Amino acid sequence: MVETNPKTAVPAEVVAHVADLLDALQCGALLLDRAGHIVHANPRLCEMLERPAQALVGHTLPEFYPAAGDATQHFIHDFSAVRETEYFLPLPEGRRRPVLIAGRPPRSDSPLADYRVVTVIDITRLKDAEQSCREQYRQVANLSDTVLQQALDLKHHSKFLEKRVRQRTRELAEANMEAIYMLAVACEAKDMDTGAHVLRMRAYATALARTLGRPEEEAERIGYSAILHDVGKMQVPDEILKKPGPLTPAERRQMEVHPVAGERILSRKPFFDVARQIARHHHENWDGTGYPDRLAGAAIALPARIVRLADVFDALASQRVYKPPWPPAEAVQAINAGVGRLFDPQLVAAFLRLVDSGEWSAIRGQHADADAAGSRDA
Ligand SMILES: [Fe+2]
Repeated sequence: MVETNPKTAVPAEVVAHVADLLDALQCGALLLDRAGHIVHANPRLCEMLERPAQALVGHTLPEFYPAAGDATQHFIHDFSAVRETEYFLPLPEGRRRPVLIAGRPPRSDSPLADYRVVTVIDITRLKDAEQSCREQYRQVANLSDTVLQQALDLKHHSKFLEKRVRQRTRELAEANMEAIYMLAVACEAKDMDTGAHVLRMRAYATALARTLGRPEEEAERIGYSAILHDVGKMQVPDEILKKPGPLTPAERRQMEVHPVAGERILSRKPFFDVARQIARHHHENWDGTGYPDRLAGAAIALPARIVRLADVFDALASQRVYKPPWPPAEAVQAINAGVGRLFDPQLVAAFLRLVDSGEWSAIRGQHADADAAGSRDA
């Protein structure tokens, strides 16, 4: 559909020729004159605008917009502008079609210098895809927020559970320690009315292990395991444990079963591994003259060596049925005299450091005996 522009000197056939070319395009196309009037609208554009060519030719584009927008205004009023912009085509009943509008004026020396070709590409599918992408992005963002919130909730819950587990584990450990302590006191109670000895043994053993540079967890374990060192004494008759005078050889043999008995009594659970070592070997001497296995040197497990020293010191410094308590300084001397014979030399050195620092006597002060006299242990 071509109308000859009376204001130009361009022959109608030239304009018609251009219109034929525009009609062959796949995109919408308009031929405008310098005043912005539509000279020709190709079929694709008519289809996009849902209007026949007759309704368009002779009009300006802004006439079709209910409220003229910047894009079309710019096209019309600035004839020489090179423009490509996303806008929309106004359709009947107020609908809109998103389009990409592009325009470029011909060269000034062109016979068509007073005309302008505007192409219009329908970008409905592109816009729909964009909208769909935005919607999907929004959904993903919402999902991310939800997942993030759930992760935070989970982390919070996990911390709460960790706290509960730590609390329960601590309660269980405390209950275990109570049971161990009660068992040890029950054994000691055959001849003592106080559990102070086992508490001192725990504190001495822990302090010696720490002073030897053992890790804290190991030192604690040696300490609580030391409590059970004499659990085997429950199989030794009271008359032997409480005998004030020297033991006969037969009584001594009965007395010396308590390490093996103690190891047998204690559970095979890993928790009691160190306690079993201690129970069996806390009467072994560094020089191999102890019992029951006559082990020597490093063959004796360190926890058992530690308890050997602590137990001898405590026996010397405490009242027993067969002797009064020694002054602490004399007990220290006796331990020193046993270096290399009864005791591991490095252990004695650690013991002397604890004595010099005052820590050893502080432990004795914290766990002082009541009046009762302890039994024999060797
Ligand atoms: Fe013992």
